[in-house]
Amino acid sequence: MDHFNYDPVGPEILEDPIPSYSNLREQCPVHQHQGLENPVYSFSRYADVQSVLVDQDTWSNRFGPGVSYDKNVGDLQRYDPPDHQIRRRFLRSEFLPRTIARSEPAIQMLADELIDNFYDQGRVELHDNYALPLPVKAFTELMGISDEDSGDFKTWADELTLGMTYPDRSKQARKAVVAYTTEQVRNRREAMAEANLPVGKDPVGTVVSEGLISHLSCHPLDNGEFMPDEEVASMIGQLLVAGHETTTSLITNAIWRLLLHPEQMNLLRENMDLVPNAIEESLRFDSPVLGICKTNNLPVEYHQVEIPQDSKVMVLYASANRDGSVFSDPDVFRVDRPLLESKRHLSFGWGAHFCLGAHLARLVGRLALETLLNRISDFRLDEPTERVLPPFLWGRKQVTITWD
Ligand code: HEM
Repeated sequence: MDHFNYDPVGPEILEDPIPSYSNLREQCPVHQHQGLENPVYSFSRYADVQSVLVDQDTWSNRFGPGVSYDKNVGDLQRYDPPDHQIRRRFLRSEFLPRTIARSEPAIQMLADELIDNFYDQGRVELHDNYALPLPVKAFTELMGISDEDSGDFKTWADELTLGMTYPDRSKQARKAVVAYTTEQVRNRREAMAEANLPVGKDPVGTVVSEGLISHLSCHPLDNGEFMPDEEVASMIGQLLVAGHETTTSLITNAIWRLLLHPEQMNLLRENMDLVPNAIEESLRFDSPVLGICKTNNLPVEYHQVEIPQDSKVMVLYASANRDGSVFSDPDVFRVDRPLLESKRHLSFGWGAHFCLGAHLARLVGRLALETLLNRISDFRLDEPTERVLPPFLWGRKQVTITWD
């Protein structure tokens, strides 16, 4: 399968992977690439990608989602059953729609404030000045992290994200997140002990008592034990990578794509109740995560290719989302595509590891798009845009717009 020329980190594919995905789906649905740290098999068809995501007996997460065999414990995405369910159940309450909805006023207020800051200039670079601060706010609200620490979190998130492909680049950031979070956990646990609170009771009034860090610090798992400090730290680090850059990309991608398709922008402006459809179509059309790796617990065969046990297999969500056997006119961007169809996209994964932050990401994406369109009646792209750096993520590094 090496005959097929597909280099996932080659310059042309980085610039626009979609034409190559189409060739892969048609001609080489299981592709083996040797140029990265380990051989990587890529799956590009919807049915194959989905078959991996629903079969936890065969497909493991224990070596992490990147191309290296990473054995860091602690983040949810690296666990298999039964440990995965125990931890996921523990986190779930913090990600339910009603919990997430608590952050809506703060995110909405920030969206308006950000636009107030740049509106009179008639020009703004949206990535840094809009698309990034909103998910940072959503994340820090969720965690219960103070505003002054958000800047550090942005830097760490960038480095940890790059580390998925180039592991050496993320060591410092990993250490910094562990140090910060361990201190936060310790503070909360000490406060809980000092106040002599029963297990599971937050130290109200002593330290920040709401948010995920408190939940992880002060509540025991189902088995009655507390999660070790380093595991909490690792989990926060993973949430940072999982939730931060991806949501920023959702916002930049959606706005950029609408600017490239003015008729779709007009359609949306005339029917603002289509914003949720536009968000879902953006996720389908421009998946913020192009693909991640799973590892097979046993040898498997797909399309006459034998894949030895413990291989790194990349499931290409972005390619599955353009599969014509599932989506009609898959390469057409339509903000009025029915939700029933667009929501079959795999950009949040599928099955047991389905993105825990999907509600939050959708909320932030919707508020960001709705507020920008409502506040600025006509804007246009001012400069060409570039993709973000990490090869398996897909978003715009800068989107500069102007208006009269
Ligand atoms: C548009 C934004 C986002 C996208 C595209 C996205 C995408 C993904 C994908 C592809 C996975 C892996 C699914 C699999 O293993 O097949 C995932 C898992 C996960 N995501 Fe997201 N994500 C986004 C936002 C968020 C946010 C905001 C958070 C939380 C703050 C978050 C937390 C997680 C967690 C905890 C997992 C692991 C779930 C598990 O293994 O059970 N994500 N996400």
